[in-house]
Amino acid sequence: MARSKTRWVCQECGFQASRFLGRCTECETWNSLVEELQTDSHSVPLQARNLLELELELDLQRADQGPVPLADVELDSACRLLTGLDSVDEVLGGGLVPGSVILLAGDPGVGKSTFLLQVARVLSKNYSVLYVSAEESRQQVALRAGRLGIDGKNILIASEQDVSLIQKHILSTDVKFAVVDSVQAVYLRQVSSAPGSVSQVRESAGALVNAAKARGICLVVVGHVTKDGSIAGPRVLEHMVDVVLHFEGERHRQLRVLRAVKNRFGSTSEIAIFAMGEGGLAEIDNPSALFLGERLSKAEGQRAASGTAVLASVEGNRALLLEVQALVGMSSTGTPRRVANGCDFNRLLQVIAVLEKRVGLALARQDVYVNIVGGFQFGDVAGDLALSVAIATSCLDRSVDPFLVSIGEVGLSGEIRPVSSLERRLKEAQRMGFKKALVPQSNLPLSGKFDALEVIGVEYLVDALKAVIPGLKDRPAAGAPPPTVNCLEPSKADLLNLLS
Ligand code: TYD
Ligand code: MG
Repeated sequence: MARSKTRWVCQECGFQASRFLGRCTECETWNSLVEELQTDSHSVPLQARNLLELELELDLQRADQGPVPLADVELDSACRLLTGLDSVDEVLGGGLVPGSVILLAGDPGVGKSTFLLQVARVLSKNYSVLYVSAEESRQQVALRAGRLGIDGKNILIASEQDVSLIQKHILSTDVKFAVVDSVQAVYLRQVSSAPGSVSQVRESAGALVNAAKARGICLVVVGHVTKDGSIAGPRVLEHMVDVVLHFEGERHRQLRVLRAVKNRFGSTSEIAIFAMGEGGLAEIDNPSALFLGERLSKAEGQRAASGTAVLASVEGNRALLLEVQALVGMSSTGTPRRVANGCDFNRLLQVIAVLEKRVGLALARQDVYVNIVGGFQFGDVAGDLALSVAIATSCLDRSVDPFLVSIGEVGLSGEIRPVSSLERRLKEAQRMGFKKALVPQSNLPLSGKFDALEVIGVEYLVDALKAVIPGLKDRPAAGAPPPTVNCLEPSKADLLNLLS
């Protein structure tokens, strides 16, 4: 007779305690422990782990060939399944690997099911595909497929929540690619807690991983993320799978970004960018054009709007041009607000501090809002210089050439530090028709040729601002003196003294 007992499980990190705790001692979240009834898995191994695991064990015993020299291991790169979406294959490191398990995580409603149906469509041209929806009925999936124009001849659809039956489907059908949507909606009968709880998610995912590995198919498991961005339920799920993909984007915006945060078969720096539209997700070949939008339609000689600048970010193998907008205004409260949308908040604070101390901009009583156009999130320090240009032009109410790209990390002494992959960034700027580039002096000379770009090397932030903001040396007309402009000269002198 199986012995039953209860335990308290943290719904954030999976930590288990034998009694109630108000705060998880592992991840320090308050009120996250929930009582779960647990059948002792040691006493009922056959039921809890079911027949599949036995089958897998037998398979493993048969397949055990003992150690071989590393050099003798045959690589079979041709066996990867291509999704038909070039950027997705790049994110995966060259396509889907048979026998691998992928966790696709994202906010509810961001488009995970849509994305996987579209991938299933491409794969179904060459292989048979199984799509198990635990959240929607077969009719609902068929309706969505119809909207996306998928005929679905080679796609098997099941609507099932019982993991044992899903395992059966995986084993009984001869598919190469399977989807389980989502892991929070399925359950293992042997685990008494509710679907979506830590134990249920962990055990169900474990059973699905076993089935996929036993059959050598590629399995994608969908996982919803919680408000704070962690994959709902246990982080342990991330350790169980080979690849963790994050599908990011805001529901009311078109932009979607697919990112690998863990990849046993490739790098984690590549991203794929999509636009969600009427016909589902469409790959964006030229994301820079999307992010720069109206700026590209400016005629030569026109100025950009005050408080805007362009940065070049590098994501994996590709460079992206992004427009950064800043708004600086007198604060109505004692503590000025700083808001960062799309960039790192601490980085913004650091840039503001350097602008104050090393350049002399009076920002201490000003609210500073920064926004990266298009809803893209970037974390590249090479964006510091563009952030500084945007904030400075907003503060001084000036503007820069719309076809200027600013690249460089800003150090605490006000120096412009070198960045990686500068040539790749400049190539993208040149391709998008940019005319001027502000770059770190220490990155020069460049190894490539950029005939269409006027490359301006700068050592200090003060020099950079003077080089691109017109009339900065001039005293402002009487009556409207932006006091900060006058501060530029002494600050530079201070800076040079400091560094000499
Ligand atoms: P869905 O794939 O159901 O999200 P998830 O599986 O991540 O919960 O996507 C739902 C959203 O996508 C929904 O708000 C509507 C939108 N959508 C489109 O804009 N165009 C489309 O062609 C489809 C199928 C969905
Ligand atoms: Mg869904």
